[in-house]
Amino acid sequence: MCGIMGYIGRKDGYPIVIDGLKKLEYRGYDSAGVAIMNGTLSLYKKQGKVNQLEQYVHTQKTNGNIALGHTRWATHGIPNDANAHPHRSQSGRIVMVHNGIIENYAALKSFLTTKGYSFQSDTDSEVLVQYIEWYQSTYQLKIGEAVRRALGDIEGSYAIVVLDSMNPESVIVAKQDNPLVLGLNEDEIYIASDANPISTYTQEVIFLQDGECAELFDDGTYHIYDLENENVIPEITTVKCCDENYSLEEYDSYMLKEIFQQPQSVEACISPRVDVLQNEILIPEIDNHKRIFSQAGKIIIVGCGTSWHAGLIGEYLIESLADISVEVEYASEFRYRSPIIRENDIVIAISQSGETADTLAALKLANEKGAFTYALVNTEGSTIARHSDVVSYLNVGVEIGVASTKAFTAQVSLLTMIALKIARIKGTIKYNEYKSIVPQLSDLPGLIAQTLKSNDLMLEVAMSHFEKDHALFLGRGPNFPVALEGALKLKEISYIHAEGYPAAEMKHGPIALIDENMPVFVIATNSSALSKMISNVQEIKSRKGQVIVFKEEGQEFPEEITDHMVSIPKTHELLSPILASIPLQLFAYHAAKLRGCNVDQPRNLAKSVTVE
Ligand code: G6P
Repeated sequence: MCGIMGYIGRKDGYPIVIDGLKKLEYRGYDSAGVAIMNGTLSLYKKQGKVNQLEQYVHTQKTNGNIALGHTRWATHGIPNDANAHPHRSQSGRIVMVHNGIIENYAALKSFLTTKGYSFQSDTDSEVLVQYIEWYQSTYQLKIGEAVRRALGDIEGSYAIVVLDSMNPESVIVAKQDNPLVLGLNEDEIYIASDANPISTYTQEVIFLQDGECAELFDDGTYHIYDLENENVIPEITTVKCCDENYSLEEYDSYMLKEIFQQPQSVEACISPRVDVLQNEILIPEIDNHKRIFSQAGKIIIVGCGTSWHAGLIGEYLIESLADISVEVEYASEFRYRSPIIRENDIVIAISQSGETADTLAALKLANEKGAFTYALVNTEGSTIARHSDVVSYLNVGVEIGVASTKAFTAQVSLLTMIALKIARIKGTIKYNEYKSIVPQLSDLPGLIAQTLKSNDLMLEVAMSHFEKDHALFLGRGPNFPVALEGALKLKEISYIHAEGYPAAEMKHGPIALIDENMPVFVIATNSSALSKMISNVQEIKSRKGQVIVFKEEGQEFPEEITDHMVSIPKTHELLSPILASIPLQLFAYHAAKLRGCNVDQPRNLAKSVTVE
């Protein structure tokens, strides 16, 4: 993973790089570093977050018109100062930041050791910068040529920025399987892992393509070439200016802010796609490809983490409404078997960031096999969006908290609309049923606002359980993925071990874990499964488990077998997973806060996982 930010031009690069790194911390935050060119090459790096680096650097001279920075998520080597980027070559002449993995680093390291090179860190990245220097010094190459030749021997993925102190008027960048964006202005160039931190300064960008290198000069000119040294004419794209509000407002964390933003974010996802007067769902990505959607053999949904959970709800919705067989695959597994994908299949890739390496690789495989590919992503212009036949954006704005909340409810809202739309095209839903569900979509933002009123109750539930070591989440039908998501949220940010299970599966194993110390969260908002859920709760209570039930307002549920009861506003059963997930987000948030955890930047995680 890791985030890269760089500047070359006339201004001081350091404040620009620090500002950009803060916006890229979602990609990793275990250490950070900067290199600044001001006659000499200064390098500062530190374990910890970007603001710790800032404090460390604040007494130093930071002026210089070329700067690169990096925020790290450790792959090779523990998070410490030495393993932080930038890395410097043996002579000190070349400095580099890297996002990705050099898979053949061990062989290169052995080779370089025989040539007298020694290493200051445990990283694969340091091997690459030393290898570039070996090429440069052995063959007396210009830095751009040394980078190009070195990359020809590399197996793995990279986005790199290389600075040569003997060529203080330019920097070299290159990319393979990890994103790198160049922002163009009259006499300056910005470099970043995504367009967001650049768009504050310029909206004209180049998304560097795989296998491309570029030399960027301090007068704003550039030269792009590929690994065969052929010139490349780049496509210049205009991105939207990032007018996102990065302030926390009255909230103590981005996660809480994003949970409470959900009435607006779901509205932003739904309202442009619902014609209230005609009572119709409008999704041009489907409307313009009606034949493909109505004749699809099957739909394969790929994603990771929370996006995979959204996909599981999508499977339930699409199969029950649109009568198409759906498979939901972990993107990381999908590509390493021999998935059967036919030309009339549709592959839907779900990703908040649009950069997850496994999801991108699964999507590329689907493209190769000739399937129609459809991306559901949040980040505009992201790699997954650019590699799909069609894309629908979530429209929820930047999600900063590492644990996904508002993106999840938007993903499920979008999948609900997609299922209804395909069903309408195929005629698998009765007209009256369709006409009754569509207006209820527009009611969702208001119902989410009501559901958020459970905040105090969820704090109370968290106070009862934040010291527990384990928790179980149970649901049936479309609420089973809600249970999985509730468990994931809790373990991600509070480090309490949690598992989600289909309620009826509990008796085939997890029931052995139940005693008076086991809180069991039962998502029972789907009335069609209510009587069976009540039986499951009886089984838990008989074994002294502590039960927290989520039921629909007005539903009868025997109070004597529950410890806490949370009522969710009434809605159509197919829409209830969106509402039911919200108190679970609040529970995870409160439990984590009570345990003193950093909810926005949980340990070991990153928001965008751009390595396999
Ligand atoms: C990481 C994040 C998760 C996220 C997953 C998939 O693991 O910590 O919150 O669900 O990546 O990310 P994507 O951007 O593809 O939805």
